[in-house]
Amino acid sequence: MREVKDMSVLITGGGSGIGEGTARLFAARGAKVTISGRRRDKIEAVAASIGPACKAVVGDVTVQADRLAMLEAAVAHGGKLDVLVNNAANMYRQAIAEYTEQVLQEAFNTNVISGMMLSSMAVPHLEKTQGAIIFLGSIHNRRAYPGASPYATTKAAVEGLSRVMAAELGRRQIRVACVLPGAVSTEINLRAGLFTAEQADARYAAIAPDHALARIGTVAEVAEAIEYLARAEWVTGVALEVDGGLGLGVSKF
Ligand SMILES: NC(=O)c1ccc[n+]([C@@H]2O[C@H](COP(=O)([O-])OP(=O)(O)OC[C@H]3O[C@@H](n4cnc5c(N)ncnc54)[C@H](OP(=O)(O)O)[C@@H]3O)[C@@H](O)[C@H]2O)c1
Repeated sequence: MREVKDMSVLITGGGSGIGEGTARLFAARGAKVTISGRRRDKIEAVAASIGPACKAVVGDVTVQADRLAMLEAAVAHGGKLDVLVNNAANMYRQAIAEYTEQVLQEAFNTNVISGMMLSSMAVPHLEKTQGAIIFLGSIHNRRAYPGASPYATTKAAVEGLSRVMAAELGRRQIRVACVLPGAVSTEINLRAGLFTAEQADARYAAIAPDHALARIGTVAEVAEAIEYLARAEWVTGVALEVDGGLGLGVSKF
């Protein structure tokens, strides 16, 4: 297994939730971490609290110039790039009978195409370090939640994408994997304006018993899985469920 110490890691969407937790874990284990996000206050606060190991880059993953700036900042900060974590995403819910092309295009642009482009641009850097690309899928790829098809479809896309990328980039010694978290309390639904904080808490409480382990997860638990995939030198093309058994579909039948 590789050492995290001295790795250079770019985490998109590192200003909150799973991205923030992953940045904290990699930095604590000796990596140089670069985080990006659109809200300056969020990423700068995270970087300041982590310390010099963490560099913040304000940017939107849907904008090519910003993607380039993120990559360049990570290479400058860490002297190279070992790991790209395509974490930035938004929740998109719409009833099937009410689809709008604008929402579907925005969902795919943010949640899928941005990570495809960043990965493409990262290939020359990752080839030098025999590095890794890690995508965030979702348990929405294993359980069907009515109303969430735009989001679920984007997450299914990145899972499929990571397999083809692993096959295509394997000969260049770049590994690719996808993590599928179960329910973790973050601001993803709040940012989408879907629920109040109280409603979100109630929904997490309601979904807890659907997990085999009877509880939702933590950002640290997902970060540990991302760190494992960054280190595991003979693991590529996998979809790793980190979901407390939610994907099992435990039934009381
Ligand atoms: N929480 C869960 O239960 C769960 C379950 C399964 C999978 N996931 C996945 O885990 C990942 C992290 O989500 P999270 O739950 O930690 O949510 P989160 O706290 O909302 O984090 C998502 C981050 O992405 C950033 N982002 C969104 N759009 C962006 C854009 N266009 N450009 C740059 N950054 C952007 C956001 O920052 P700005 O708004 O400041 O840009 C935010 O910090 C996502 O891929 C999500 O789909 C989460």
